Amino acid sequence: MEVIIRPSADAASRLVASLIGDTLDRNPVAVLGLATGRTVVPVYNELARLHRDEGLDFSNCRTFNLDEYVGLSPDDPDSFRHTMDVRLFNRVNIKRENTHVPNGVAKDLDAECLAYEQRIRDFGGIDFQLLGIGDDGHIGFNEPLSALRSRTRVKAIAPDTLRQNSEAFSSPESMPRRGITMGVGTILDSRHCVLLATGEAKALILAKAVEGPITAMISATALQLHPKCQVIVDEAAASQLEGTDYYQWIFENEPEWEAYRNDE
Ligand code: GLP
Repeated sequence: MEVIIRPSADAASRLVASLIGDTLDRNPVAVLGLATGRTVVPVYNELARLHRDEGLDFSNCRTFNLDEYVGLSPDDPDSFRHTMDVRLFNRVNIKRENTHVPNGVAKDLDAECLAYEQRIRDFGGIDFQLLGIGDDGHIGFNEPLSALRSRTRVKAIAPDTLRQNSEAFSSPESMPRRGITMGVGTILDSRHCVLLATGEAKALILAKAVEGPITAMISATALQLHPKCQVIVDEAAASQLEGTDYYQWIFENEPEWEAYRNDE
């Protein structure tokens, strides 16, 4: 795991967008794993800008979103599918048939989960997985006690998350109580994963996720098992970490980061 601390949320988001852009430049058919939530909105804004101003090409890439609410149809304004259309897909030259979000209104939800896993395998697996972190340490909708080897399935949404996410709903009481989510194991199978966390509210859970013991109570701690996981944060989200000097030293000295160091 690497932890990269940037001076601001904007700089952290730009760094994440650059990493996605570089993935697509190197491999135009890359399979991207995408996330929703407020934290990643500036990443999608920057990707839309890179497409508009610098010709970043999405025409051959494929995407799989982490999760979707059970019971919300793709055109429901509160669904993650709709959010992705508005925030990213409609703003870049991606082909709709190459974008995948679990179907929250599938008649047979278990079959939908199995098919989603199979589709990821059929596309050769996820090259780059973008993640946020919930207040309870979830990734996707892998709420506390999610098995660390879990696959795509239906999960009950925990009370903390209901509180956190219902703010985004037009009528908060209508927020679904269940979601379809890639499992922790599905996420760990990605070749490269990047978790973005910004703002002081994420500082404590981020420190537990990065520096605490691995536990199913905090799904994000499983990322410590991932062979290539980068945690990109602003100074506020980094404020409870103990190893910041060491993390900064790596960023200043690893040749891999050279091209990214000067963007404040
Ligand atoms: C939702 C999503 C997660 C996301 C989390 C963080 O629950 N299922 O994938 O990481 O929200 O949200 P925010 O970025 O708004 O704090």
